[in-house]
Amino acid sequence: MSGKDGGAARVVLDANGAFDHVAPGFGIPPARIADLADRVATIVTDLSERRAAGQLPFYDLPYDDASIAACEALAGELRDRFTTLVVLGIGGSALGTRAAIEAVPADLRAAGARRVEILDNVDPSTLAGVLDSLDLETTVFNVISKSGETAETMAQFMLVRERLKALFGAAGCRKHVVCTTDLEKGILRAIADAEELPTLPVPVGVGGRFSVLSPVGLLPIAFAGLDVRALTAGARAMDGRTKSPKLEENLAAFHAAVLYCAFTERSTSIHVLMPYSDRLARLSEWYGQLWAESLGKRHALDGRVIETGQTPARALGATDQHSQVQLYVEGPRDKLVTFLRVEEHAADREIPAGFPEIEALACLAGHTFGELLNMEQRATEIALADSGRLTTTLVLPRVDEAAIGELFHFFAVQTLVMGGLLGIDPLDQPGVEAGKRLTYAMAGRQGYEGLAKEVSARADAKQQRFIFT
Ligand code: PA5
Repeated sequence: MSGKDGGAARVVLDANGAFDHVAPGFGIPPARIADLADRVATIVTDLSERRAAGQLPFYDLPYDDASIAACEALAGELRDRFTTLVVLGIGGSALGTRAAIEAVPADLRAAGARRVEILDNVDPSTLAGVLDSLDLETTVFNVISKSGETAETMAQFMLVRERLKALFGAAGCRKHVVCTTDLEKGILRAIADAEELPTLPVPVGVGGRFSVLSPVGLLPIAFAGLDVRALTAGARAMDGRTKSPKLEENLAAFHAAVLYCAFTERSTSIHVLMPYSDRLARLSEWYGQLWAESLGKRHALDGRVIETGQTPARALGATDQHSQVQLYVEGPRDKLVTFLRVEEHAADREIPAGFPEIEALACLAGHTFGELLNMEQRATEIALADSGRLTTTLVLPRVDEAAIGELFHFFAVQTLVMGGLLGIDPLDQPGVEAGKRLTYAMAGRQGYEGLAKEVSARADAKQQRFIFT
């Protein structure tokens, strides 16, 4: 299957493993997917209309030449002045950036590598470890927060700002900080304006987990030395392949339909993403956030309580063949595994003929490590099929910026279509907001006194008999 328009088709979806001719007795009959065609067409058409009306601006991030050029230019300037950029951000402000940077190792970066650290937690030992390892003279901090008031990010910023001011004074501090935040709203915006800190915008209407191709991701990714033109071109190519309302012409919608059918008719409440490439391990983290935060919802769009969502899980091939795969093959039939397979592995090398007299080892000699990895992927796929478990495979010709851009866009569209099928709003995150408010209440924020009392009441309600000291 292929799209009608768009760039070169590179990432391939092979969904055979989800169907009943491959996984007899448990696989999905193709007719069940065909039954979803009209619903999917309505959902994709609705997405296109909302996109045309400017309501889904994430779609057009890879076409925003002005923003891409601004990020490249600022990254270039910063690369001239600094050796290290530290991202202070969490969730959607961090995970896509890390996924892209870790997919392209230093020696493969077009512009030459620079160090990027991502601080997406407030664990004091990590903070101390990273901050103490930095030469602040040659470090710039990119504070990234769309809302501008996320406790973790702002606490980190307060610590870094204090250190920078102590070393360089207020004017010097300004040279070591770039804020990426809302154009108008929020506490970080107000601080940046008041302290005249350089800023980049988080585009209006683009949520954190859909923002990697905005300045949120593009500045640190470009600073690291990756080719953001290739990254965005990959996303555009995938856009061409994921616009059609026809299931057979839209691989993201097709995959969403398969996952939906497996979820609702085969009880696969868990979607495992299993790359056979260490370089794609962090992409699973980004995807995990996208799938969980977008789809895990209490309410349907019509207000009904449905408490839905498919749990994302991460596994890594071949490592997890010696860990998770036993459960996947013989445990509960509650998972669909999507493999990420890479055709051409960088820096591949041949296994030498060390023990020609030992047949079990001699058969490995002459194969490359990449071939071995791919044989292992295929073996796991077949083992799962043999025990009636469902799989799909995304095949990447190689891991590079273009393929990562394709995957970013593929998974984003898949998530929106799945949201449509589940009848929920994939763009909000009320559950996350609740946690943010409770944290502020415990920290003693003004206006949160009622919530703080609730927190105390919760502590009082604990019973001593369930606490073992
Ligand atoms: O996807 C999302 O919206 C969230 O994960 C946010 O990115 C995360 O909560 C951080 O929010 P903010 O960018 O407002 O600091």
